[in-house]
Amino acid sequence: MASSEAGGVVIVGSGLIGRSWAMLFASGGFQVKLYDIEQQQITSALDSIRKEMKSLEQCGALKGSLSAEQQLSLISGCANIAEAVEGAVHIQECVPENLELKKKIFTQLDGLVDDRVVLSSSTSCLLPSKLFVGLAHVKQCIVAHPVNPPYYVPLVELVPHPETSPATMDRTHALLRKIGQSPVRVLREIDGFVLNRLQYAIISEAWRLVEEGIVSPSDLDLVMSDGLGMRYAFIGPLETMHLNAEGMISYCDRYSEGMKRVLKTFGPIPEFSRATVEKVNQDLCLKVPDDPGHLAARRQWRDDCLMRLAKLKSQVQPQ
Ligand code: NAI
Repeated sequence: MASSEAGGVVIVGSGLIGRSWAMLFASGGFQVKLYDIEQQQITSALDSIRKEMKSLEQCGALKGSLSAEQQLSLISGCANIAEAVEGAVHIQECVPENLELKKKIFTQLDGLVDDRVVLSSSTSCLLPSKLFVGLAHVKQCIVAHPVNPPYYVPLVELVPHPETSPATMDRTHALLRKIGQSPVRVLREIDGFVLNRLQYAIISEAWRLVEEGIVSPSDLDLVMSDGLGMRYAFIGPLETMHLNAEGMISYCDRYSEGMKRVLKTFGPIPEFSRATVEKVNQDLCLKVPDDPGHLAARRQWRDDCLMRLAKLKSQVQPQ
């Protein structure tokens, strides 16, 4: 039996994201309880986690210092939420993206917990001020938004409610660092948080360039995967500026006029019109036909690439 860290973690919702969180917390030595409203989901989560951990161990990609069996011994299912949260230090909610459902879960948790546990949501886009409104334990509430697949993409956006205490932010940040994730502090809530705002800015210009016939959809994707994306896996856009001249001040001296000139030519928010959607889809389907089999195979390939990239990053960037 593996020795577990003091206090346990509870995962509420044992779907795609709940399973990943369970594996990550177990890799850090935490006792994990998986809760779900559907008993079948808990059973299938435990089964798929076992298979995945064994296969990760075989290919040398299992996280943490414990063996797969040791990590698996830390994860158990629990069909009763009151029992599950007893003694927990962190509760990670992973139920479907539905404000009313999530509010109901947090109201239920609010009535069960003391003032020592952190109540955290995996929501991709619901604002903390809407999600945690009226809770007695609002100071202990935070959004911890992971990126799919969280086992290979370590970023987690931490987004506070206006009343979230700094201690909750600090504790969650430290906990996520401990399990090998890469948390960032979003200092004030904003629609889309940070990752999706950046992503939508890119999608927006990509769409305009394709719609205006400047570049084909497949070449547009290549600009990112074989161009910008190569750098961005290691350094962000701001550090890129810093390195592409003699520091940030020199970059802005040299290039800010050019950047502003180009930025002024950016068009309005795309309509994502049917005609362009069909054109882009046709192009993409030549590469990846949109039937479930081809999509699943391509996702598997993507995850394998991400796993290798994660390994490379851990070698070049000592934690
Ligand atoms: P999912 O649909 O795979 O899993 C949701 C689970 O919640 C299911 O097992 C379901 O039975 C359970 N559930 C439903 N009602 C419940 C209740 N009342 N009590 C307990 N469990 C309940 O959803 P997924 O993809 O795991 O998403 C979960 C959250 O993570 C969402 O808020 C989503 O926006 C967020 N997220 C998802 C990402 C993704 O790529 N799928 C990426 C980042 C965040």
